[in-house]
Amino acid sequence: MSAERERLRRVVYVSHTAVEPGQPMWPVLDSILTAARRNNRRAGVTGALVYSARRFAQVLEGPPESVEAVFERIQCDLRHDHVTVLEVSEPEARAFGDWSMAFVADAPVPAEALEGPGGAARLMAMLQAAIRNTEAAAG
Ligand SMILES: Cc1cc2nc3c(=O)[nH]c(=O)nc-3n(C[C@H](O)[C@H](O)[C@H](O)COP(=O)(O)O)c2cc1C
Repeated sequence: MSAERERLRRVVYVSHTAVEPGQPMWPVLDSILTAARRNNRRAGVTGALVYSARRFAQVLEGPPESVEAVFERIQCDLRHDHVTVLEVSEPEARAFGDWSMAFVADAPVPAEALEGPGGAARLMAMLQAAIRNTEAAAG
């Protein structure tokens, strides 16, 4: 067959919000998601972001150079810190291909549970379940 499989990179990380406790979080999330969706669509990057209990967890997928460029910017972003990479891989297929950046608030899995072996797999499973529930709720 003609079409070569797309080369993909996946990066999964967790981080802590740098927004002071008591300050509103929603304007920050809104601004992150607006920029993420605009830039990722242009760059062919897809993924999902969780915010829960003052932690972020994110999956980024796409062409390796695009994912690296996006992740470089994310690591320099002062709105979060303690960025800890859980997985860097070359998956066969995208897990969040329909989403320039899906968003899940109040994850059913505590962010601490994502650290340690298997954390990235647990996060991906949780995100996919949460997104399926959202789709079901939306009819
Ligand atoms: C937790 C978190 C997740 C982010 N995710 C993305 C993302 O997926 N894509 C992206 O382009 N920017 C993302 N950003 C924002 C970048 O750090 C940066 O502000 C943005 O890419 C700048 O884009 P702009 O120059 O178009 O405003 C994220 C930031 C944070 C704190």
